[in-house]
Amino acid sequence: MQQFIESLNSRFKESGAKEMLSWFLQEYRGRIAFSTSLGAEDQVITHMISTLPGKLFIFTLDTGRMFQETYDLIEVTRKKYHCNIQVCFPDAAGVEEMVKTRGVNLFYESVENRKRCCHVRKIQPLTRALQGMKVWITGLRREQSITRSDTPLVELETEMDLIKVNPLINWSNDEVWNYISRFHVPVNELHRKGYPSIGCMPCTRPVAPGEDIRSGRWWWELPQFRECGIHRKSK
Ligand code: ADX
Ligand code: SF4
Repeated sequence: MQQFIESLNSRFKESGAKEMLSWFLQEYRGRIAFSTSLGAEDQVITHMISTLPGKLFIFTLDTGRMFQETYDLIEVTRKKYHCNIQVCFPDAAGVEEMVKTRGVNLFYESVENRKRCCHVRKIQPLTRALQGMKVWITGLRREQSITRSDTPLVELETEMDLIKVNPLINWSNDEVWNYISRFHVPVNELHRKGYPSIGCMPCTRPVAPGEDIRSGRWWWELPQFRECGIHRKSK
């Protein structure tokens, strides 16, 4: 399998993101899913997909702690691209149990608590959403963080036995924003209010101009811990 992943990486090394998406859409029809957080990169991918033949399963993980602006963008995007973004929720009993024992704002108390919350509200629903799939598309970029600096274009997600495809992995921030303006892609209102990277409301704050784009995510933690856990390193 690892050899196959390497062959995909060399095959698409010089290709554009759209060309690559097109190939995966044809090849893995019915077994391909795209997770969108409605972030700028995800909106680029949604736009690309809307111009390609072939369908895929698009979903977003609603942790229950999102910004209103993100919900607004789900609706705008659904209408504009005629795409049915499935909204996936965490298990209610799991959230109730966690909140009962650790409190509603548990994430500020320790990295362990924060990871627990991300596990219940994001990782578990993600695992459910991807069941039966073979390919998982994401909007990851290398430049986003030190935790992503060696992420490949195509990788093996061993725990879920998936081919994980990151078509924008080598894109710069400018490339993302040039694409958005060229194709009039709708984006989250919060971007122009100083939020370059947007997750859950209690765990995201605006950043000053020139500051690291993910420094507003889990800002009270050290940079090496600032991942929710849905993006594991491939082995
Ligand atoms: S996170 O792991 O720190 O939250 P980030 O916001 O940078 O990730 O997004 C990276 C990619 O992870 C997105 O392009 C998307 O594919 C996936 N992702 C992150 N959050 C969600 C979400 N709430 N729903 C669906 N996909 C998500
Ligand atoms: Fe919970 Fe914050 Fe993780 Fe959202 S980002 S799931 S609120 S810890």
